Amino acid sequence: MTRKIAAAAVLCLMVGVAFTRVGAQSAGRAPASGPTFSKDVAPIFYRHCTNCHRPGEVAPMSLLTFQDARPWAKSIATRVSKGTMPPWHADPAHGEFLNDRRLSETDKNTIVAWANADAPEGSPTDLPPMPTYSSEWLMGQPDAVFSMQEDYPIPAAGTVAYQYFLVPTNLTEDKWIQAMEVRAGDPAILHHVIVYARGPQPAPPPPTPAPGQPRPAPLFQFAEGTTSIPAGQTGGPPLPPEQRKPLGPNDRPAPRPMGPPVGGFAPGQFTRVYQEGTALKLVAGSTLIFQMHYTPNGKATTDRTRIALRFAPRKPQTEVRIASLVNGGLHIPPGAADHRVDAEMTIGQDVTMWSMLPHTHVRGKRWEYQVTYPDGRTETVLSVPNYDFNWQTDYVFKQPLKFPKGTKVHATAWYDNSTANKANPDPAQDVWWGDQTWEEMMYTGLTFSIDATPATPTAGQEK
Ligand code: HEC
Repeated sequence: MTRKIAAAAVLCLMVGVAFTRVGAQSAGRAPASGPTFSKDVAPIFYRHCTNCHRPGEVAPMSLLTFQDARPWAKSIATRVSKGTMPPWHADPAHGEFLNDRRLSETDKNTIVAWANADAPEGSPTDLPPMPTYSSEWLMGQPDAVFSMQEDYPIPAAGTVAYQYFLVPTNLTEDKWIQAMEVRAGDPAILHHVIVYARGPQPAPPPPTPAPGQPRPAPLFQFAEGTTSIPAGQTGGPPLPPEQRKPLGPNDRPAPRPMGPPVGGFAPGQFTRVYQEGTALKLVAGSTLIFQMHYTPNGKATTDRTRIALRFAPRKPQTEVRIASLVNGGLHIPPGAADHRVDAEMTIGQDVTMWSMLPHTHVRGKRWEYQVTYPDGRTETVLSVPNYDFNWQTDYVFKQPLKFPKGTKVHATAWYDNSTANKANPDPAQDVWWGDQTWEEMMYTGLTFSIDATPATPTAGQEK
């Protein structure tokens, strides 16, 4: 969660207290004919709002009961009719998504009509059973929880470089991750977490092809000039020793090797559930590496973040993996209001694409993804016209996309480095790729699976 949401949360709570008294007085006064909370509105809130709007959750106020919701009726009507709540930023014209949070027109109309009629309670006997949340985790009861092993101190001010925490899993057998969730120790200062899993044995180097044999083509081949992340930055090669910053006593530097990423969490995206029949492999004996990005917010604090996992009961039909598409060479000039950055890759094997997670920092305003299939057809598979840094969404395709070998995936992001962008920390700056929020990224997390299972060698070929 970011500073903006945290600050909004504090403000809303205060406003909420003030309104509650007014709300309590006017409760239950409206005509019985229109929609009431108990009969019409509560079922919608329970389905679409209370996973976030309940005590202890990410949203600033609870919407579980009439008493909770009544003071917010006006704001609810505004947000719901504008479509800014529930939060969703993709253009419905392109693609359908499993995790689409949007309300139907009927539900919107019901909520707005209720709010406009002085938000009546109706008869409490109409109230459907309140949803029960089985534990503190949104996913329900997890199979395993892994925690950072220290309360890491965050200063009140300044910049904190990415920090890395090793968390042994002590798993004695391979597991298949069906769902993952992160719970920040202190949500106010946590910008993002990426979790990597390093197996007990570092991955062996790829086999050297026999003389005269072609090298196997990589799964993803990036377009010229779009992949290289500058040395020392996320995912980039290490800096030469003489350029490395000396480590402070509280620095937890990146271990090498890291192992593949198994999940990423940023504001708005704290849970990831993989569809039935698909899961992500976690090898026995893995050590999780939490890459933590902290943003000090004026108050010294500590953080001990945890992740929860739910495992698939057995090896899934399909193993999903995570990869990325980036353009590390971005440069946004000062004041540019609509600066475009592209990244492209060609896929070297038949794959199924399950989801895409666009990520920029606060200057990012819009994203678009176009694919060109080997037969020349092009298609916009995802468009995010209202990209919002506070809501990072992994867009999960309702119908996973089939990308035959040779498919080109082209990502475009637009940035607003002008004064018109209220979140812009400094419109006078040249902006380059960098870890920190005032720097930028052009990063897409991709969840995919490989379609063709490699042929098993026959006995005759074994030596
Ligand atoms: C994925 C989590 C999530 C869901 C689902 C969600 N909200 Fe929110 N909501 C938030 C967060 C976080 C905030 C505070 C940040 C902001 O305003 O964007 C918020 C803010 C609001 C506000 C503004 C409060 C104010 O300050 O006036 C309203 C109103 C609201 N939500 C209503 C709803 C309603 C109604 C639904 C369901 C139809 C809903 N939300 C679904 C997370 C959520």
